[in-house]
Amino acid sequence: MERVYISDISRYEGKEVVLKGWLYNKRSSGRLHFLQVRDGTGIIQCVLSKADVPEEVFQASEELTQESSIIIRGIVRADVRSPGGYELGLTDLKVIQLAKDYPITPKEHGISFLMDHRHLWLRSSRQHAILRVRSQLVKVCRDYFEANGFVLLDAPIFTPAACEGTTTLFETDYFGERAYLTQSGQLYMEAGAMAFGKVYCFGPTFRAEKSKTRRHLTEFWMIEPEVAYNDLEDNMDLAEDFLEYVIGRVCAERRAELNYLERDVAKLENVRRPFPRISYDEAIDILKEEGVDVSWGEDFGGDEETILSKKFERPVMVHRYPVGCKAFYMKVDPQDDRVSLSMDVLAPEGYGEIIGGGQREEDIGILERRMEEQSLPKEAFNWYLDLRKYGTVPHSGFGLGIERTLAWICGLHHVRETIPFPRLMGRLSP
Ligand code: 4AD
Ligand code: MG
Repeated sequence: MERVYISDISRYEGKEVVLKGWLYNKRSSGRLHFLQVRDGTGIIQCVLSKADVPEEVFQASEELTQESSIIIRGIVRADVRSPGGYELGLTDLKVIQLAKDYPITPKEHGISFLMDHRHLWLRSSRQHAILRVRSQLVKVCRDYFEANGFVLLDAPIFTPAACEGTTTLFETDYFGERAYLTQSGQLYMEAGAMAFGKVYCFGPTFRAEKSKTRRHLTEFWMIEPEVAYNDLEDNMDLAEDFLEYVIGRVCAERRAELNYLERDVAKLENVRRPFPRISYDEAIDILKEEGVDVSWGEDFGGDEETILSKKFERPVMVHRYPVGCKAFYMKVDPQDDRVSLSMDVLAPEGYGEIIGGGQREEDIGILERRMEEQSLPKEAFNWYLDLRKYGTVPHSGFGLGIERTLAWICGLHHVRETIPFPRLMGRLSP
């Protein structure tokens, strides 16, 4: 008999099939057992009637506990009352293992208990929905760059130098040498852009963030394009085109999951070009109008971003941050040397920064001066400076954080549920 998956069940109406999975939930009324069975692709209601199966099978079902592994056989019936539109009339059930005292019961649990049991929590419908959206989000991000002529160039994880400031580095011993876990693949993508024109990387990045906020992980995934000869405007055009494509496809292809999460998809459907573009100076004016106490030169924190992003129905691009707010590699605006050719994209509904990027400094003299100002060790960057010696050109790129983007897409308050096994300050397991 054919083993099938719940996601394909509609193709087997009227047929007898075998499913392999786990018991999600159970209810019984005397001679009838209603089993909710999950197999990783979905959940299906199964009806087991005492009259239809041998006594020992009915008995086994009687004793079945949550998350016991089972192989079942039954006839597929269309049923409008079932959530998936189908149910299974069971003819046989075999227990692979009886699970004893599964810790996550259908009652409410506190967040730290759930986080401690993340390895099991992944089986719940809500986590399932979120992580299936994540899987699709990553796929469509890759599709975008593949379809637009970018070459995937993987960046290293062990690095000799800081990309995003020295305060959030995770240091490790590399055969007696000091190494750091990468904060961003950008510097390597700049080398890639000079070699291939358009490149991107996608991988885990690490920041020793000593802040416990709803937006900070210590290990998160970033997708980073870099393009030779692109200036800041081109970079904003790319970010806008990319986001419109990605959000559009995720909404279309993961509609059921977003509905399950009760996400207001209409809000995501607003993500259409053009996105508003405002300068840092304009952003400061908006914040002051809102009564926020900010002074020119400070970087925006989560609270400021929340306020700014609530002002717009689409992602808003904030450009030209003060030079002091951004990393050493940002190009200083030739029109105004107080600011850099940087840009952040803030997601609406209060989500805040999901993309950071800008135009890079291509002049070796200015770059060396910026590195000295920030006391960066020149030896570690010699290879990077080479890129400015041999055919330097204007170039730009950005990094999109997968987890923050997913929190916004799914409408989640905190990034901890957007990654299978979150790493946060104070959380290294499971
Ligand atoms: O703004 P960031 O620090 O930019 C860079 O790292 C650039 N080198 C990227 C580039 O231009 N290639 O980080 C980029 C994005 C942020 O907008 C945010 O979405 C995410 O990475 N991010 C984090 N996500 C979760 N936890 C953290 N601690 C994050 N830090 C940054
Ligand atoms: Mg940033």
